Formats: sequence, structure tokens, C-alpha cells
Amino acid sequence: MAEILPVDEAMDSALALLGAGDVVAIPTETVYGLAGDATNGEAVARIFEAKGRPRFNPLIAHVCDMEMAERIGRFDPLSRRLAEAFWPGPLTLVLPLREEAGIHPLVTAGLSTIALRMPRGFGGELIARLGRPLAAPSANSSGRISATTAQAVAADLGRRIRLVVDGGATPVGLESTIVKVEDGALHLLRPGGTAAGDIEAVTGTALARGATGVQAPGMLASHYAPRALLKLNVLVVNPGEALLAFGPHRVQGWKQAVAVKNLSETGDMREAAANLFAYMHELDRSGATTIAAEPVPAQGLGEAINDRLSRAAAPRDGPA
Ligand code: TXA
Ligand code: MG
Repeated sequence: MAEILPVDEAMDSALALLGAGDVVAIPTETVYGLAGDATNGEAVARIFEAKGRPRFNPLIAHVCDMEMAERIGRFDPLSRRLAEAFWPGPLTLVLPLREEAGIHPLVTAGLSTIALRMPRGFGGELIARLGRPLAAPSANSSGRISATTAQAVAADLGRRIRLVVDGGATPVGLESTIVKVEDGALHLLRPGGTAAGDIEAVTGTALARGATGVQAPGMLASHYAPRALLKLNVLVVNPGEALLAFGPHRVQGWKQAVAVKNLSETGDMREAAANLFAYMHELDRSGATTIAAEPVPAQGLGEAINDRLSRAAAPRDGPA
């Protein structure tokens, strides 16, 4: 069972766990978050594992100050204005990602944008002490509602994590508002703890709502499609194809592959999840017109890995 420690006693344990690539449930002003080092792929894979998420949805990267935020996202005058007005607080900004920032691709699910938020209280302090951003979805198992007390987190995830930091009931009680800032326009992706009207008042810019041009990531089947054709569950590799391998045993013909990346030699799902997006990109860059993927068992994180692979293999929608 997870240990529950009050905020004023939890800092050292939380830092030790996060430094070792483990996850910790922490209070924020909105809801409790399940936090892991956003630069460490295995830590981020553990988040998905603990939540039992059947999909790799992109996560919010939490930062402690503007310096860290600007190292990760590309701000423009509009997003800077929002950050000044509402951070720290219950507002998440979706901005273009700086590829060189070291954010692990599992955090963004391979997207070129990043969701950034600066939380109040313990979370901000923890990030400053760690010196790295924390990826943190709400600390609930997949399909359940977000937790607003440490006891609710422990009852739901207590058997799967080591530490819940208890900061009492979260003051806002619902998730952050998510706004995508793009070419001087604001799109409301999720209503939440910062009122839309307040955002419009501060910026003098109307918030676009609904599916106008911005779709929830992961909704488009082929959102993550590589340029090359992706073939799933292959039993044979043809000459000229690239191979996305999994586990210790290779399929027939693998020596003919122009490039091979193995998600995990030992068949470790956490390692495979952490490697997935980077390896798909790498094989795509090999120039092969087809990427053949070996079967990945659907256990544990394997379900989310297979979900992402089948989206990448789906017929391309619409004009490019
Ligand atoms: O209040 C909150 O926001 C809490 C606390 C812990 O910070 N976190 C939270 O995370 O609600 P989560 O993972 O439950 O929701 C994050 C949302 C998801 O709906 C995800 O699709 C969206 O943020 N998101 C993340 N990155 C995105 C991106 N690059 N573009 C669009 N949406 C993104
Ligand atoms: Mg959630």
C-alpha cells in the first residue's frame, strides 16, 4: 500500500522516488496528479501503467517558473500574457514544443505541441527542487473521476504506487482549463478551473470553442501515422522493409530489413512504451517505404502500445 505523508514531511521521499524514475501522487490546486519526471520515458510509462490507461493520451508538463516554461514551449505575446495573468493556477496552455527541451515523446504522445501548467503550492516547490518538469495526469485509474483528496487517491491507486502526498482537499476541485494558443488565436480545449470569461477579459480575444480546427489528439485515427506504410503483427519481413521488433525472438526474414529497432529485447512493456514514438520516427527516417511491426502482446501497457500502432497503421484521412 502507498504511504500517505503530509506535505510538510513528504518532500525528501517524493524527491527520492522521482529521482529514481518512480511516480508520486501529489496535490495541486485543481485535483491530485500522478507525477513522474517528464524527461524520463520509463517514469512516464509508469504513469500510464499505474492508471491502467488503454491509450497514450498526451500529458500536461508541470513547471515551476517561466524560465523552465520558456525552455519547453514557444511562447508568443498572447501566451505570455495568459501566463502572467493566471500562473501559478488552474490554466494549461498548449503551445509549440521546443524539440530540444528534453521532454520525453511519451509525454506529448509524439505531438509537436506541449501542454504546460504551473501549479500552486507543493507541486511547484517539488519541481523547483527536482529541477525538472513533471508530467502528471489526474491521479485516478482510467475511467474513474479525478481525485480531490489523498484518501481517494490511495483507495484507487494505493496498491500500484509507493507515495501519496497529502495536501488536504484540493481547493479548486476540478481540472485546469486547457487553452491552445495558435497563430494569435485561442481555442478552448477543455473548460475547467479558470473561467473562460476571465481569459477573454485579460486577452481581449474570444475563445474559439468546439471542434473548429482543433481536435482532441488521438481522435484522428491516423494522427500519429509515419510517412512509411506500417504493417502490424507481421510474421515475415520482406527485403527493403524496416522492422519494429519486440522481445528476444525475431520473425522470419528479419536480416533483410534495412533498419531494425527493438522496442525491448527482454519484452519489458515499460521499456517498449518509452521507446515507441522515438523508434517509429527513427524507422520512418530510414527511408523504407514500409515498416513491419512484430506482434506485441496486449498485456498491461501492451494494450496502449497496440492502440497507438493500429492508429499509425490506419488508412490516412483526408488530403495531406
Ligand atoms: O488540473 C489538471 O489539469 C490536472 C492536474 C493534475 O494538473 N491534470 C489533468 O491531466 O487533468 P489529464 O491528463 O487528466 O488531462 C490532460 C488533458 C488531456 O485531455 C489531454 O488530451 C490534453 O490535456 N492535452 C495534453 N497535451 C495536449 C496537447 N499537446 N494538445 C492538446 N491537448 C493536450
Ligand atoms: Mg484525467
